[in-house]
Amino acid sequence: MASLGHLIAETIIFVPNYKDMAKRIEELKNEINNWHCSTGQQLEEYRLRFIGRKNILIDLFSEIKMVPNDQKKAFGQSVNELKELAKTKFQELIDSMQANTTSIDAPVDLTLPPVKTAFGTIHPLTATRQRFIEIFERIGFNVSEGPEIEDDWHNFTALNFPENHPAREMQDTFFIEKNPDIALRTHTSSVQIRVMENEKPPIRTLSPGRVFRNEAISARAHCVFHQMEGLYVDENVSFADLKQTLYHFVQEMFAPETEIRFRPSYFPFTEPSAEIDISCQICHGDGCNVCKYTGWVEIGGSGMVDPNVLENCGIDSEKYTGFAFGMGIERIAMLKYGIKDLRLFTENDIRFLKQFKMI
Ligand code: PHE
Repeated sequence: MASLGHLIAETIIFVPNYKDMAKRIEELKNEINNWHCSTGQQLEEYRLRFIGRKNILIDLFSEIKMVPNDQKKAFGQSVNELKELAKTKFQELIDSMQANTTSIDAPVDLTLPPVKTAFGTIHPLTATRQRFIEIFERIGFNVSEGPEIEDDWHNFTALNFPENHPAREMQDTFFIEKNPDIALRTHTSSVQIRVMENEKPPIRTLSPGRVFRNEAISARAHCVFHQMEGLYVDENVSFADLKQTLYHFVQEMFAPETEIRFRPSYFPFTEPSAEIDISCQICHGDGCNVCKYTGWVEIGGSGMVDPNVLENCGIDSEKYTGFAFGMGIERIAMLKYGIKDLRLFTENDIRFLKQFKMI
């Protein structure tokens, strides 16, 4: 049976001695500082020993109350410091492990399945615009761009739209300011004016870009869409050049057997003017609901540049003639890829966009 003396002696042994405690703290500090790990398991060992719910520092905290009063403060402080050190070191170990996994000699598990990478695809409108440019670059056209916010001169007046003429209503304009009129451009013919004002013939240029018209959004119309307009000004440019150039274009863009026809039309900036139709790409002339059983679909407008337009831009209309055309990029893309609804282009639905992987 243990005597009272023995019990007292044992109890005395367990009363913490501040000096021993300081030594223990010092030892733990060294242990933390010298800890290196190269595997996840070693990191986990560290976590269990110094960070986890039953970490070794918890014992030290519980011993604070047994430390003589005059030493409590200093002891408490060093235990807290030790705790902070353990935390900082843990983060360092994690960081260095992460850095190492990206280094070449980090262990790699070659049996793991590869990470699937999702590649982006080219948007059908981008692909169509690029193809358009490619075809015309080969026959000497360059590309010009201009502002989407235009003044009245470049969008209307220089293009021979008479003041207060109903032709201005043909294009439902989004006005930003009235008198002087500033609007979102309704077509990229405005870019052609800018080119003619700044360059001397011969001019062969394409102007792709976003245009805006106040129209209700549906499967066939949108208030924001893209146009590709073309302009060729030089001596002796004729309607035959216009026809042959566009014939070449449709054969390259669609299929070599694609037919083209011109229907008389009206635009203030061209005279004569013609609407461009191509043989239906869906039914090839047999009749379907895309071509409304006519075998033909409209792709844009064209014509010989009105002499007034040339003169407005400082080009001598006695010496030079030109042709111009304009098409909707959406429309060309819809016919080329059989897309039925114009809204799909801007909805960013990945199921739609993914189909264009092979383009
Ligand atoms: N600018 C016309 C439009 O947007 C298209 C066009 C361009 C017509 C050039 C003829 C010549 O409707």
